[in-house]
Amino acid sequence: MTRASITKISAIEILDSRGNPTVRVFIELSDGTETSASVPSGASTGENEAVELRDGDPCRYAGKGVLKAVSNVNDIIGPSLKGVDVSKQAFIDRQMIELDGTDNKSKLGANAILGVSMAVARAAAQSFNLPLYQYLGGAGARRIPVPCMNIVNGGQHADNSVDFQEFMAVPVGAPTFQEGLRYVAETFHVLKGILNKRGLSTGVGDEGGFAPNFSSNEDAIETIVQAIEKAGYKAGEQIAIALDSAATSFVSNSDSEYDLAYSGAGKLNSDELITLAGKWIENYPIILWEDPLAENDWQGFKQFTRQHGDKIEVVGDDIFVTNTKYIARGIQEQTANSALIKLNQIGTVTETIEAVRMCRDSGWRYFLSHRSGETEDSFLADFAVAMDGGHLKTGSASRSERMAKYNRLLEIENELGQDAQYYW
Ligand code: PGA
Ligand code: ZN
Repeated sequence: MTRASITKISAIEILDSRGNPTVRVFIELSDGTETSASVPSGASTGENEAVELRDGDPCRYAGKGVLKAVSNVNDIIGPSLKGVDVSKQAFIDRQMIELDGTDNKSKLGANAILGVSMAVARAAAQSFNLPLYQYLGGAGARRIPVPCMNIVNGGQHADNSVDFQEFMAVPVGAPTFQEGLRYVAETFHVLKGILNKRGLSTGVGDEGGFAPNFSSNEDAIETIVQAIEKAGYKAGEQIAIALDSAATSFVSNSDSEYDLAYSGAGKLNSDELITLAGKWIENYPIILWEDPLAENDWQGFKQFTRQHGDKIEVVGDDIFVTNTKYIARGIQEQTANSALIKLNQIGTVTETIEAVRMCRDSGWRYFLSHRSGETEDSFLADFAVAMDGGHLKTGSASRSERMAKYNRLLEIENELGQDAQYYW
């Protein structure tokens, strides 16, 4: 069988969900296949993430333009991949890594490289007439991830009084994805009513969750528990809670002093923060905690995992940046028991799959994730099913760039029918 080859790759600058420039890549194949892919962008980024190339021209988008990344696709990457068999994902990704030649993709830009990598995967799937999740995950790809819905936003994703970045409702006790999504979307609406009644803001943050000025971080989580119960669900049994502290965003210069300044809760060292987390884990139905400590606080992270890792999933995001170099260290040192997986932190589909595989091989879990700056591209939904990890986070029940992923998962579950699986 002759496989389709790449005939043309091009890119344009588009805007993400925050109105900032990002890259969209178009691809054409010899068999007539045409498709595209768009790249997301984070706000609370880890210092070791692959580099998102931005123009730095103050006259355009305050320096955030991506025209250089676009021309790197049009003038360098595109021509170099002309004629290549589109199904050779690993080869194509390696070619781009070599063409870039840096450790962190800073020359061509991880945004340019990832856009091409995603477009290649999608085009190959289309050319083989397979859904993307099946092309990437094989015949066994049928587990729909539990949606960890980020219904309260704080930290760098909002301008409110909450220090922790994400408070997620997790429908662990639902029979299907469709039902799980309903459980947490209903909770989201009930939460809105509770906030309204208390005279708190129901405006949403970057990921579509509410961002009111709660009186404390505890108030935020207690109000969510209240919303779960008022929506008619059993907290802990049907809907649990997941948190992303994004602690790198409130650590001060020492790497291990944490300033809960938004809420006025004061400064804590790693041990105090770990003890505080212990109280939360005891008192609230928490099932997963991401970035409880900052990206350079490997010692604190390890201590947190030692104390709480038998009760909850401890996820490293900024500390591992979807990079096997850091995940391997984490596995070795037992820093966590799970890694967050974000395509654009590492910059190619192949390397992201490698990161997932490393977690799986070591008995770790892995948590698929969008970015706070997103587009309408639903690549992540198919990718999460293909990776078989059982849970993902892609924002709240508002903002269409978030709903695009949830809606795509509904489609996939519907398509799989009785063969779809759903469990935590
Ligand atoms: P980001 O946030 O996309 O702004 O980095 C997401 C996260 O920290 O998990
Ligand atoms: Zn995070």
